[in-house]
Amino acid sequence: MTELDTNYPDPISDNRLIDNHNRPITYLRLAITDRCNLRCRYCRPEEGVPFISHDEILTFEELEHLVTIFCALGINKVRVTGGEPFSRRGCMPFLTRLQKIDGVQHLHITTNGVKTSRFLDELAVIGLDSINVSLDTLDYKRFWKITRRDYLEAVLQTVHGVLARDIPLKINSVVLKDTTDDEIIQLAKLARDFPIAVRFIEKMPFSGTVRSGKLENGNLSQRLKRLFPAIEKETYVLPTTARIFSMPGYKGKLGIIQGYSRLFCSTCNKVRITPTGMMKTCLYDNGVLNLKSMLRKGAGDQEIESAIINCVQNRCISGHEAELNAKRGKEPSMASIGG
Ligand code: GTP
Ligand code: 5AD
Ligand code: SF4
Repeated sequence: MTELDTNYPDPISDNRLIDNHNRPITYLRLAITDRCNLRCRYCRPEEGVPFISHDEILTFEELEHLVTIFCALGINKVRVTGGEPFSRRGCMPFLTRLQKIDGVQHLHITTNGVKTSRFLDELAVIGLDSINVSLDTLDYKRFWKITRRDYLEAVLQTVHGVLARDIPLKINSVVLKDTTDDEIIQLAKLARDFPIAVRFIEKMPFSGTVRSGKLENGNLSQRLKRLFPAIEKETYVLPTTARIFSMPGYKGKLGIIQGYSRLFCSTCNKVRITPTGMMKTCLYDNGVLNLKSMLRKGAGDQEIESAIINCVQNRCISGHEAELNAKRGKEPSMASIGG
């Protein structure tokens, strides 16, 4: 049976990335593409967003070079995201190479699960530490309404394929204003029947459209307590974005991610690289360092390391501060950030 993987401690060794608020940075998220085979309405507008051209996107070689630099600075956990990572040709060989980089102790992916099942054997072979699959509903009509595509069957095939291979699995479910209690109960049954952490997520302002400016889905922890009165103690270990709950008789766990409320900023251990090579020290900032430009102008590793350390030393204390400084009219699309 799959060992349930809800949190992984981030061992801190030789960490040279400690921010100006004393938070060690050990976790790097790589968004390797803005492309995706879904069109989730909380992520991009119906008319789509113009795709970024290939030469604007970091090559796999550039990404590997950057991961080596970040690991030398103390990063030990890498998560590959998109867009949808498997929409980029060469994703699987890239993951295989990443796994071999010195310092990459934990390798994870976040995927929409549409094309993922065909790569599961290889992912199991390289010893991927876990897979997070985005799945907002188990209702076919609602899946279409949310993602504007008809791929629920393929996603479920991935979910069961991951379980069959004992790869630790989490489900990410964004709760929308029209998400019903029944949809939440159906998703929670996955945690009842299988060793899966099903995490309900506050919708954040990254839809690629005009800003809505308020929390749309109410208080998730109150909602879970109402729907699951027997919900038990939180078992999470810091640092983590998710608050994890157990339920009597469940093989898995339930969780909430309050990324709109930003309740976990004080322990945030992450930096991000966008598909175009911008480094972000917060999900809510506009990008603080153009790594692609440094690489393509021939900057040496030491120069890049110093620039990274400098950004980390000037990090916003919270996502609220980062958002305030970013001064955006329109919400960026999550596909260009990677979550
Ligand atoms: P684990 O490592 O498994 O805990 O995953 P994760 O939560 O770090 O990553 P995942 O890609 O599964 O993201 C789940 C949700 O959390 C998505 O909605 C992300 O946008 C959101 N999220 C991840 N990191 C942050 C963060 O630092 N700040 C905020 N506000 N949201 C985040
Ligand atoms: N708010 C919260 N989560 C989002 N994701 C994508 N867009 C949003 C949003 N606007 C989630 C996806 C995926 C993860 C990387 O981010 O569902 O699981
Ligand atoms: Fe694609 Fe992810 Fe955006 Fe959905 S949320 S459209 S799966 S990038």
